[in-house]
Parts: sequence; structure tokens; C-alpha cells
Amino acid sequence: MFSIFSSLSLMPRIETDRLVLREMKMRDAASLFSYCSDPAVSRYVLWDTYKYPSQARDYIRSVRRQYRQGFPGTFAIELKETGRLIGTVGFMWINPEHRSCEVGYSLSRREWNKGYATEALKALNRYAFNDLHLNRVEAQYDVMNPASGRVMEKAGMHYEGTLRQRLNNKGRFVDVNIYAILQKDFQHLKEDNTHAAL
Ligand SMILES: CC(C)(COP(=O)(O)OP(=O)(O)OC[C@H]1O[C@@H](n2cnc3c(N)ncnc32)[C@H](O)[C@@H]1OP(=O)(O)O)[C@@H](O)C(=O)NCCC(=O)NCCS
Repeated sequence: MFSIFSSLSLMPRIETDRLVLREMKMRDAASLFSYCSDPAVSRYVLWDTYKYPSQARDYIRSVRRQYRQGFPGTFAIELKETGRLIGTVGFMWINPEHRSCEVGYSLSRREWNKGYATEALKALNRYAFNDLHLNRVEAQYDVMNPASGRVMEKAGMHYEGTLRQRLNNKGRFVDVNIYAILQKDFQHLKEDNTHAAL
């Protein structure tokens, strides 16, 4: 489907200090359900709080269908220490023509504020620039969810603006902040190897 992926393993195993990013498997369903059924996790995202375990299985099936179609959509975030899924990070879309993409992430509430989302996002951005050779990675978040914006900042992304009432989330029109990092920004960060964004 996407020629830029042809020479790559579609869903590589990506290791960071504390995490493994890998393809989602059906065995992740119970862990996925345990945190996607938490309304605090789904509050600022576009999917609804899970009510039934079958929703986790359906989601994993749809992600695996995307893999088969050649799209590296969603990675599982596995905690090395336990081997368990604690969240997901991935591409909402990739535009091969413009070499751009949008990324998103969510984590189990038990694991918030330990730096895991930032660690996972940095790893995904490295994959996007070094392996997929994309030029622009963007992300957006509901302005009421500043923790997500902080993750983007810590990953070296730049604020580009606020789009008023861009989305309707659970019956509420919401303003969203857009952040992005370009290949040239990423190269600058790499040259300045003291920068924590890498
Ligand atoms: C947003 C989310 C992914 C952050 O994950 P995380 O692993 O806690 O993120 P990190 O620990 O890497 O960083 C969180 C940062 O936000 C800060 N933060 C937390 N709550 C905050 C708040 N209410 N206001 C401002 N900053 C906040 C933390 O202090 C930390 O910054 P610091 O390192 O400078 O102290 C997590 O809260 C989540 O999964 N939320 C539900 C799903 C979601 O909203 N996804 C994003 C959709 S755009």
C-alpha cells in the first residue's frame, strides 16, 4: 500500500530504556480492556470508554488488519519490567506523497507521569524520521488535556497553533493545539546530543 514501507519490516520491535514498542497481539486484549474501560483515559480522545472486553479484541483485530494492508498504524507499548501492555502509540495517518503523518498515544492511568508516553513518542518519531524518512510528524490534543501537550514538547515538537472547535468529542466542540516536528528539527536535535528529546 505505502511504497515507503516496502524495504522495511512493517512493525519492527523498537526498544527504549524501559519500553518495547511492538505489534499488537490478541493476547494484549485483557490489558487493553483494563485501561480503555477507564473513563479518565478516554476523556480527551475520540474513542468511547470500553464497556465490553470484545471491544478490545475488535480493536486489535482492526489494527492487525491494517498491518496486513501495509499500514504500520498502532504499536503496543510494553513495559520491559513486566512484559505487559501499558498503552499504545502510533500513526493516525501517513501521507506518503507529502511524507507527513499524525501520531497519537494513550496509556493506562496507573502508569501516568512516569515519562513513558514521552519515551514512546520519541521512539516513534525516531522511527518516522530515520526509517520511514518522513519529513513532518504532527500531533494534536484537546486544550483541556495539557499533559498531552507537555509530552509533545518534551519530545521536541513545536506548537503551531490552536484550531478552534476543530473536533466534536463526546458531544462537546473542542479547541485543539497542533504540534509538529520536522526532519530538519530532528537533525538539529541529533547534532545537539545534549538535548533530552533524543
Ligand atoms: C497524556 C498521556 C499520554 C501522558 O502520558 P504520561 O506517560 O503520563 O506522560 P509523561 O509522563 O511522559 O509526561 C507527562 C507530563 O505532563 C505533565 N502533566 C501531567 N498532568 C498535567 C496537567 N494537568 N497539566 C499540565 N501538565 C501535566 C507531567 O508533569 C509531565 O510533565 P513533566 O515531565 O514536565 O513533569 C496520559 O495522560 C494518557 O494516556 N492520557 C489519556 C489518553 C490521552 O489523553 N491521550 C492523548 C490524546 S491527544
